[in-house]
Amino acid sequence: MNGFIQIGIAISIIVWAVPSTAQRANPHLIYEENCASCHLPHAGDFVSEKLIVSESGIVGKASGRPVIDYLKAGHGELSDEEITVLIEQFEFIQESGRLFQEKCIICHDNAAEFARQKLILRDDIVTGRYTDRDVAEFLLQHGRLDASEAQKMVEVLMRQLQVK
Ligand code: HEC
Ligand code: HEC
Repeated sequence: MNGFIQIGIAISIIVWAVPSTAQRANPHLIYEENCASCHLPHAGDFVSEKLIVSESGIVGKASGRPVIDYLKAGHGELSDEEITVLIEQFEFIQESGRLFQEKCIICHDNAAEFARQKLILRDDIVTGRYTDRDVAEFLLQHGRLDASEAQKMVEVLMRQLQVK
């Protein structure tokens, strides 16, 4: 794929994925600095193991109480802005996890494992580790995703690769 198309896709992914949070606090750091000392080390694991979606949005599995209510009540001591960013991040993780579950898991058992074993970031482009494939381009033809789902999936895989 030529560089212009790559850049175009990279930009559209960023625009798509974080429309309102671009200039704001980094959601990974918010979780890591304020939540991880008591909860699971990574936001992705916390969301998939401890939270579910109900009619009232994202809620704790144990309590059924909306996460936003917890945070607004002072749990974790976040500012209102940090709360907004973190909730958006949780929703993104939740939605994309569901997409992977629906469309990919039959053939690739787990997004995190799959990304770590088969993929690598080269110049910030998600690439097949052994195939050297441009994954953004590949997913337009693979896994029966529409274009926006494909972008979302690239973003998900990228985040998996950025987690240390
Ligand atoms: C000082 C420790 C501590 C910190 C820091 C902390 N929590 Fe908690 N949190 C707990 C404890 C203890 C519970 C209740 C037991 C449980 O559900 O794990 C809890 C419960 C929760 C629940 C409810 C889970 C359920 O199933 O109902 C959510 C959601 C939550 N925390 C989110 C967060 C987020 C997000 C942050 C960071 C902004 C955070 N917590 C920071 C200790 C902490
Ligand atoms: C029906 C089975 C099947 C489904 C469903 C499927 N894949 Fe795949 N996928 C494969 C196979 C087989 C390969 C290896 C093909 C190859 O290397 O030519 C592959 C390769 C890939 C690669 C490239 C890996 C590399 O090393 O280059 C990516 C990325 C990928 N899949 C992501 C996904 C995502 C994301 C989904 C869900 C949207 C998905 N796949 C759904 C079977 C599947």
